[in-house]
Amino acid sequence: MSELPSGFGPDFSWGASTASYQIEGAVHEDGRGPSVWDTFCATPGKVKDGDTGEVACDHYHRWPEDVALMRDLGIDTYRFSIAWPRIQPTGSGQVNEAGLAFYDRLVDGLLEAGIRPCPTLFHWDTPQALEDQGGWLSRETAQRFAEYAGVVGERLADRVPMWATINEPSVVTLLGHAIGLHAPGRTLMFDALPVAHHLLLGHGLAVQALRASGAQMVGIASNHGPTWAASDSEEDRAAAALHDDVLNWLFADPVLLGRYPETLVDLLPVQDGDLDVIRGPIDWFGLNHYAPARVAAPGSPSLADGEAGGLTLGDDAPFRLVEIKDVERTDFGWPIVPDAFREILVTLKDRYGSALPPVFITENGCSYADGPGDDGRVHDDRRIAFLDGSLRALQQAREEGVDVRGYFTWSLLDNFEWAEGYSQRFGLVHVDYETLVRTPKDSFAWYADVIRASRG
Ligand code: NOJ
Repeated sequence: MSELPSGFGPDFSWGASTASYQIEGAVHEDGRGPSVWDTFCATPGKVKDGDTGEVACDHYHRWPEDVALMRDLGIDTYRFSIAWPRIQPTGSGQVNEAGLAFYDRLVDGLLEAGIRPCPTLFHWDTPQALEDQGGWLSRETAQRFAEYAGVVGERLADRVPMWATINEPSVVTLLGHAIGLHAPGRTLMFDALPVAHHLLLGHGLAVQALRASGAQMVGIASNHGPTWAASDSEEDRAAAALHDDVLNWLFADPVLLGRYPETLVDLLPVQDGDLDVIRGPIDWFGLNHYAPARVAAPGSPSLADGEAGGLTLGDDAPFRLVEIKDVERTDFGWPIVPDAFREILVTLKDRYGSALPPVFITENGCSYADGPGDDGRVHDDRRIAFLDGSLRALQQAREEGVDVRGYFTWSLLDNFEWAEGYSQRFGLVHVDYETLVRTPKDSFAWYADVIRASRG
């Protein structure tokens, strides 16, 4: 094996990420209310093979074993998410003590293991009762979210040193509300844009609520990747610029600059003062990065390269995603382009300058189906190669002046991959969904080596 990626320095933070609905299971236990993902999973045809998060990795019961794995891995930070419907089963009012107590135990267990807890307050499991009142299409939900943030902050801010408000607002808006691939399954196309504004308003209000409870190191986890025009034609470049606005800048500009892209601002229900709330300073910016997008205009000759799956806004959309040629792909079909990681980081630095706080990579990883072989081990060499490429690209971005302070890989465990159910495995640890046995993969040992070597 070649030399390990290096140069990060002893203070660089190493972590792994998960999310509540993807790992916890125990959806009916200790007073948890239903979330939009429970409802979505129960709707035939929405999730591959009819999979649900009912058991998932059973982390709700097996968390001590999972914390022991984290300790073996050597990570200093664990990013997980708090299930809003465990804390407030109906999304407002009455607080469920048993739900808070679960995260209390987890936080204490992490601290005992010397691992910094970094909870995300919203990783997509909106309480169903709020959805029934309009969900994120309603401005009210931003207020409810801030209340919930305050409740969690009051309980945990004395021990939790790093917080994220929301995860990937663009995916909630686009997959959840524009094209309906994710819960709550709405297909509103561009009429979904108010969801983006309400999520971001919820983020800003939650930052205020967290700070009021004494929380420090508050950030957001937003997903971004470079958008490449499929050709130099004016049409393709215009389509790519619009895609960039919809997928990237709609979500990062208001948080970091206090304004929306001009192309979209008229479609958003912004009220006086909202942008000041949304821009309320954050202490760090979380980047989730997976892959770049190559974009063409409808009718463009570049469409001959074949359309890529994923995030499209339907036949009427003003842009199309086309295949990135001649690159390897993960088992999810996502193109592997390590330099795109460097590129998006440098783009963020150039676009935001001093408005960009220190960056943490809150997610990056790949799906490969490898399972235990005859020797009982999981030889996921392709994951090692992916992570190796990512870390080198990240280090290059640091050398180009991007202030990246940490890398949290997705994911600690194989888990429930949303509409793909259990068919896509992103973990450093293999999970057998029949027995719930955890088997660290070869990439787990490799990542542990990288961390150890980097600490010197
Ligand atoms: C981003 C999401 O935050 C996470 O929940 C998901 O599993 C990964 N991407 C992989 O698709």
